[in-house]
Amino acid sequence: MASFLLLFSAVSLLKIAYAAAPAGPIPRSVTWAPKSYGVEGPWWAVRTQLGTPPQIIDLLPGGSFQSVVFGADLCSTFCDAQTAGLYNSDESSTAFTQTGPPIGTNGTNFMTRGINYTYVFDTMSPVANIEGAPDVHIPSFDMVVWTTGFNEFPGGSKYGLQIGNLALGATDINQSWPNDGAPRANGTLVPSFLFDAGITPSNSYGLHVGSVAMGIPPSLYFGGYEQSRVLGLVTAQSYGLNFFPIDLLDISIGVAVGNSPFDFTSKAGLLAQGNASIGPALQVHVDYNPPYIYLPRSTCDAIAAELPVHFEPSLGLYLWNTTNPNYTTIVTSPSFLGFTFRLNASISQKMTINVPFSLLNLTLTPPAVTQPTAYLPCSPLSEVSVPNLGRAFAQAAFIGVNWQTDGQGTWFMAQAPGPNTPSAPEGVATSMQASDRFVVPSTDDWVDTWNSTWKPIEADTAHVNSSIPEATASSSSKSTSPPSSHISPGAIAGTAVGALCGMVLIGTGVWFIVRRVKKNRRETGMSFNIRSPRKPPPVVTYHGDKRDGGFGPQEVQGSAVPGAQQMSKQQTEHPRKELPGDHAYELQS
Ligand SMILES: *[C@@H]1O[C@H](CO)[C@@H](O)[C@H](O)[C@H]1NC(C)=O
Ligand SMILES: *[C@@H]1O[C@H](CO)[C@@H](O)[C@H](O)[C@H]1NC(C)=O
Ligand SMILES: *[C@@H]1O[C@H](CO)[C@@H](O)[C@H](O)[C@H]1NC(C)=O
Ligand SMILES: *[C@@H]1O[C@H](CO)[C@@H](O)[C@H](O)[C@H]1NC(C)=O
Ligand SMILES: *[C@@H]1O[C@H](CO)[C@@H](O)[C@H](O)[C@H]1NC(C)=O
Ligand SMILES: *[C@@H]1O[C@H](CO)[C@@H](O)[C@H](O)[C@H]1NC(C)=O
Ligand SMILES: *[C@@H]1O[C@H](CO)[C@@H](O)[C@H](O)[C@H]1NC(C)=O
Ligand SMILES: *[C@@H]1O[C@H](CO)[C@@H](O)[C@H](O)[C@H]1NC(C)=O
Ligand SMILES: *[C@@H]1O[C@H](CO)[C@@H](O)[C@H](O)[C@H]1NC(C)=O
Ligand SMILES: *[C@@H]1O[C@H](CO)[C@@H](O)[C@H](O)[C@H]1NC(C)=O
Ligand SMILES: *[C@@H]1O[C@H](CO)[C@@H](O)[C@H](O)[C@H]1NC(C)=O
Repeated sequence: MASFLLLFSAVSLLKIAYAAAPAGPIPRSVTWAPKSYGVEGPWWAVRTQLGTPPQIIDLLPGGSFQSVVFGADLCSTFCDAQTAGLYNSDESSTAFTQTGPPIGTNGTNFMTRGINYTYVFDTMSPVANIEGAPDVHIPSFDMVVWTTGFNEFPGGSKYGLQIGNLALGATDINQSWPNDGAPRANGTLVPSFLFDAGITPSNSYGLHVGSVAMGIPPSLYFGGYEQSRVLGLVTAQSYGLNFFPIDLLDISIGVAVGNSPFDFTSKAGLLAQGNASIGPALQVHVDYNPPYIYLPRSTCDAIAAELPVHFEPSLGLYLWNTTNPNYTTIVTSPSFLGFTFRLNASISQKMTINVPFSLLNLTLTPPAVTQPTAYLPCSPLSEVSVPNLGRAFAQAAFIGVNWQTDGQGTWFMAQAPGPNTPSAPEGVATSMQASDRFVVPSTDDWVDTWNSTWKPIEADTAHVNSSIPEATASSSSKSTSPPSSHISPGAIAGTAVGALCGMVLIGTGVWFIVRRVKKNRRETGMSFNIRSPRKPPPVVTYHGDKRDGGFGPQEVQGSAVPGAQQMSKQQTEHPRKELPGDHAYELQS
């Protein structure tokens, strides 16, 4: 509640004085922007205050390590009038710009793809103030400031960048980078700073991005999570350096309540349909920065084949046929796309996250397109991209991470609720303690959180059991429990990763991946292996990097870092991913 009030008076918040301080570390929420963003969303955004005096910049929550912020120069070339705020480091007395090797101006990947950027560290205020606690100002907040860039669809049409991202930490507490002879550049990340300063109980966060269109409010806490956002089985597993890998076992279509709008009650096997090279599992990353759900073309086509959609090559996305009566029936019904994952990295247990089709009725809006266009956010992967469940998926999933501080932390995922979700008063979030390796779900039933929203067809009989029992069942998904026939699926296709952001996105993605592959080849055993998910971690490497200054920005400066070979490789990877990947994705919004 408090956070929402703050939204409308963000600037004045700084001046508010509070009487008493909380007893100890507690989870801290963020201030949400009073408006939404995203030409492919819309999405909720976090309102931050950057620099001294504060500049109001809205950012989408997601990503690791440094955040992407758009600089004041951005609009000198190509810009989205709805931009979420442009940051001008020249007008901040606390800004520190990393010098050293020319950043983003050496004819390297980013630049050739139309992106110029620089690393800047400045004071940032990200969390909602609470009564009795002092205002929180994070010094040396780690940012990469983009001064040029744009999005581009596969067909070549370009559109401006609108909003960057608020990265949600890393296992490192502090980061430091060489700075071309000058004092090292020291950066801080939000959750680790809050933990290190004794403000929150752990270097962690819990996030449910919610849905603007369906009226599901967002929830983001550092050092804890909102239990009402965690339903049913929770899967816990290791994270990668800057990504969250998990095995996707299948994708199915099901109906939670009542009759089916399809000519089947449920249909499984969509993930591998028509693609023999997809075995029993496909490792995917869960990264909220990119807007779409990025899957093999065969999978998107299999989903799309069951829906009134058609692929639009110029956008790289599947568009809903809104004149087909089945469109309205499906996106308002209790039908959903079920994503079944390996539970706790187990070979026998599974859990499923259901994404109602109402959340997959997203809209492309100007200036990306000339008129609002309903699309299905499944984006066929290009050869070099990694399957990724982006923000469209995140509307229905809770994700939490306890980074810990040694690279040995855990990330969590669970079903998130629908619109019927209690709004928790400030201060009642559940703490995540420093060594916690699990989050405790609510006992709420997922069906009940959607009951008042969706329109069951004829009967009201529930087919899905979203409470915890099904989890232990170890069988695949709960989603399709009803009587069902597993027929062959169709093809829904989604959006293309590269679609929107063509240049930025795709380009970055490609580069990113290519680099990764190369690196992996070069790497020796312990190094960070992007492709191997289960045991992501790079503890060893991590430490190495840390000593030399962390990962983020170094990529650019990789050559300047005398460290081990591994370091340089990781660094490069890192940045690559964060920068291009994130940007690109976000840019799209
Ligand atoms: C650009 O990158 C190349 C290769 O890393 C390097 O040799 C060169 O010195 C760089 N140029 C500048 C101006 O930093
Ligand atoms: C990036 O910056 C360099 C150096 O200022 C400039 O020459 C180049 O045109 C810029 N790139 C873009 C895409 O604006
Ligand atoms: C992180 O940096 C801050 C500021 O320099 C310092 O006070 C703190 O002790 C550092 N924390 C760790 C764990 O190094
Ligand atoms: C960053 O931290 C290092 C080590 O504590 C210190 O030597 C350096 O001066 C700091 N850099 C700045 C810009 O304060
Ligand atoms: C609507 O869906 C039903 C059931 O799947 C199907 O039989 C019918 O052909 C669809 N109608 C159109 C216009 O696609
Ligand atoms: C089949 O799946 C593989 C991943 O296992 C993917 O690389 C390939 O592009 C897929 N083929 C099609 C036609 O989507
Ligand atoms: C959309 O659906 C209507 C009704 O089924 C159909 O007549 C029309 O051809 C479809 N349009 C496209 C582009 O598929
Ligand atoms: C699809 O989403 C758009 C944008 O939120 C909304 O206006 C439209 O009513 C939705 N379609 C249906 C059938 O609910
Ligand atoms: C998954 O792992 C977590 C952490 O180890 C554990 O608390 C939880 O009980 C496990 N879930 C199941 C269903 O085994
Ligand atoms: C949904 O809510 C209505 C009204 O409260 C109730 O009658 C119905 O049984 C509920 N359906 C399910 C599946 O819970
Ligand atoms: C849901 O799970 C509970 C507990 O296992 C069970 O009693 C109930 O019958 C299940 N409901 C459905 C619809 O499967």
